[in-house]
Amino acid sequence: MSNTETRDLFVTGLRNAHAMENQALSIMKPQLSRIEHYPEIANKLEQHIRETEGQIGRVEEILAGLNEDHSALKDMALSFTGAMAAMGHTIAGDEILKNSFANYAFENLEIAAYKSLLTIAEIGGHNAAALNLQANLAEEVAMAKWLDENIIDLTKKFVSLRQAGEKAKI
Ligand SMILES: [Fe+2]
Repeated sequence: MSNTETRDLFVTGLRNAHAMENQALSIMKPQLSRIEHYPEIANKLEQHIRETEGQIGRVEEILAGLNEDHSALKDMALSFTGAMAAMGHTIAGDEILKNSFANYAFENLEIAAYKSLLTIAEIGGHNAAALNLQANLAEEVAMAKWLDENIIDLTKKFVSLRQAGEKAKI
């Protein structure tokens, strides 16, 4: 594969990552605004929203270094999908659980995307970019780990709130 082709792949991957992170924001922000009874989840979401904003900045920095802009239009389309997905969980009453499963799935999607991008960065010799991508990857891994470790406690709390009659509270 030529250098140009590798670069094109890298730029496409970076634009996708940029859109993915905006989608992450559009999933997490509506969730955060609805949480009442799970401050530990609200705190973690708030932290990861800030991290995600930083990740978007890192991806933009890499794209700017390659003299590439990010695609605002594509980002908008994906953000809309994210908002719809978040809203789909509000009806059934187990929103906090379903959101947690979806967040875990999304973090793992992000992990896969950054591992792939890092590989392309290494093949293309984009060493400075790789440092930024590694920083993003580390935050996604930490968030996925937290969600994984929290799912049992969250479910226990959800069940006990239900038993106490706190119906459909998130
Ligand atoms: Fe994330």
